[in-house]
Amino acid sequence: MHTFDEQAEAIAQANIRYALERIRMDPPPLDGPIDAATLRERAGQTITAEGIGGERALKVFEEVLAPACISGDHPRYLSFIPAAPTEASILFDLVVGSSSFCANSWMEAAGAIFAENEALRWLSDLAGFPESSGGVFVSGGTAGNLSALVAARSAFRHRTGHQGRSAVLTSSGAHASIAQAGYVMDVDVMPVPGGPRLTGKDLTAFVAQLNKKDLARIFAVVGTSGTTNLGIIDDLEAIANICSAQDWWMHVDGAYGGAGLAAPSARPSFSGIERADSFIVDPHKWLFAPFDCCALLYRSPEHARTAHRQHGEYLEVLYDGEWNPSDYAHHLSRRARGLPFWFSLATHGTKAYSDAVETTISTTHAAARLIDDHPNCRLLAGPNLSIVVFERTGWTGADYDSWSEKLLASGDGFVVATRFEGKPALRFCIVNPNTSEADIAHILATL
Ligand SMILES: Cc1ncc(COP(=O)(O)O)c(C=O)c1O
Repeated sequence: MHTFDEQAEAIAQANIRYALERIRMDPPPLDGPIDAATLRERAGQTITAEGIGGERALKVFEEVLAPACISGDHPRYLSFIPAAPTEASILFDLVVGSSSFCANSWMEAAGAIFAENEALRWLSDLAGFPESSGGVFVSGGTAGNLSALVAARSAFRHRTGHQGRSAVLTSSGAHASIAQAGYVMDVDVMPVPGGPRLTGKDLTAFVAQLNKKDLARIFAVVGTSGTTNLGIIDDLEAIANICSAQDWWMHVDGAYGGAGLAAPSARPSFSGIERADSFIVDPHKWLFAPFDCCALLYRSPEHARTAHRQHGEYLEVLYDGEWNPSDYAHHLSRRARGLPFWFSLATHGTKAYSDAVETTISTTHAAARLIDDHPNCRLLAGPNLSIVVFERTGWTGADYDSWSEKLLASGDGFVVATRFEGKPALRFCIVNPNTSEADIAHILATL
């Protein structure tokens, strides 16, 4: 099992062949879910005392399991937040997988961490964070938001001595992971009344009516730079003003939309992000990296270090190192998951990234025009960043669901229903530069 013998050689050839064939597919098949009983029947018993052999296991994966997974990088996958990893990033993911370093400490993985930090630097510069800022790649936006808020609360407790149940403010458009972080941390998450965009007016009005006790237990405001449903960017400048007046931590969730910082046409809408204490952006969403990859950045990383560093007899030896990623989030052992992003960025250069993000924004504008011109559709929201929301006039929720199922089954696209102002609607999220106007027209023709 731990020798590169003939069996390993055969597995290597077969797996690399499969990986290359999959990467070369243009487009890959959309595929789709299958019920567990059918999968059980088709896959057979795969975990056995003697093993079924690499050849058979790969065959099961190729013929049964992979076709039961939707390809996030298909250009007509427009649901949720799609994936669009570059060829270079996927290929380097194979390299990272074959290099057994634990990238939690400088001692163990200085080279990998150095490169990850170079990629983080580019993101910090896009946001206008100072030289002294720094952070870490974590698994996703949910982990990034939680880790940032844990650091924020720790800083608050150290500064004020507050020990009771604390609270954060956010908008009604904030991602579900903020409420989830509140649940995990035993913190109240207070949505500011108003629309899905957190404005200075709504935030000021809400803060003005808070009682002294509540004001004393708030430690952060979470702004969103690109809400998941509508692509809306909160008034980050106003949030920064209120946070600095109240001495609150400002966190910006840019898991999806933060990539827009790279697009000159979108950058002005992020004004104020440079004053945040922390922000996240997921390269696995709109920055063309494979799953799972979220960049978490802190203006003053020492607060995060105080909150997240783990102590133990066998760990202390690590803490002379220059930069230990394990200090900056809720984790210890970690894959150098920022490296595929770094490799692709190094390969293609930052201009290619800006151009690719701009391409998807232009396609989204084209989609909005096509929707406007469609006899049965009506644009409800957007284009905001790379999202449009619209309705098929006269349809109920059930109509949307059955259309969506048929669209996937036919391999024509993957678009699920969302809700807009309480009513069912459709939403396109376009992060794949290979998604063309023709792809959008192809889907709209089925409405
Ligand atoms: C704004 C925002 N924040 C957080 C998340 C959660 O990210 P993840 O799914 O990587 O945990 C998402 C996911 O879509 C998101 O759009």
